[in-house]
Amino acid sequence: MYGPVIQGKLVRLRPPKPDEAPGMAGWFEDMEVTRFLKLRYPPTVEAEKEFVERVGRDPDAIWWAVEHDGRLVGGTGIHLIDWKHGHGTTGTVLADKSVWGKGLARELMQLRAEYAFTQTPLRALRSGYLDGNVASSRAQRSAGYKEVGRWHEDRFVDGRWIDHVMTELLREDWERSRV
Ligand SMILES: CC(C)(COP(=O)(O)OP(=O)(O)OC[C@H]1O[C@@H](n2cnc3c(N)ncnc32)[C@H](O)[C@@H]1OP(=O)(O)O)[C@@H](O)C(=O)NCCC(=O)NCCS
Repeated sequence: MYGPVIQGKLVRLRPPKPDEAPGMAGWFEDMEVTRFLKLRYPPTVEAEKEFVERVGRDPDAIWWAVEHDGRLVGGTGIHLIDWKHGHGTTGTVLADKSVWGKGLARELMQLRAEYAFTQTPLRALRSGYLDGNVASSRAQRSAGYKEVGRWHEDRFVDGRWIDHVMTELLREDWERSRV
């Protein structure tokens, strides 16, 4: 399913529009954008359309398009939601490099966590980042995620094997940080 509109100071999270899929396929053409992502090859427009349709129908996912200054700049979501046990896995891509380093990821992760813990019964958000993805690690830390382990030498990036750092944000920690 798609997430509802959430307006922040820097970002607006909103459902994607069907005609945005072709532009979204282009997000994955740039190796600087995909360096620390699982998806390292640009999908076809058809495959991206299918993703947008599939994620909208998926009862175990909540996905948002990310806007900044009225422009679509990326996407974020909670995937693989296990409603019975109360956890899901979060991910983000900001494909427009001109918006990097302005605090968008930090804000959107905070908004996403607030949504998860006030509008759904989820108890934990799981995530991760590849060692060296400083912006992702810091944005996650700012939103309250903590490191819980790592898969050593998990991915081959730029000629070397790097660790996948696993993180999680627990509802109880999030609630405690709010008081
Ligand atoms: C990773 C990504 C989401 C970060 O988004 P962003 O909006 O640029 O991040 P922010 O501006 O919110 O910065 C978050 C933190 O990282 C720091 N930071 C940002 N860019 C940085 C850089 N190049 N080097 C070091 N620190 C950096 C910020 O100072 C901030 O730290 P703080 O919260 O401690 O003050 C974005 O770069 C992206 O989508 N990259 C490509 C896809 C990707 O890697 N996704 C994440 C997969 S885990």
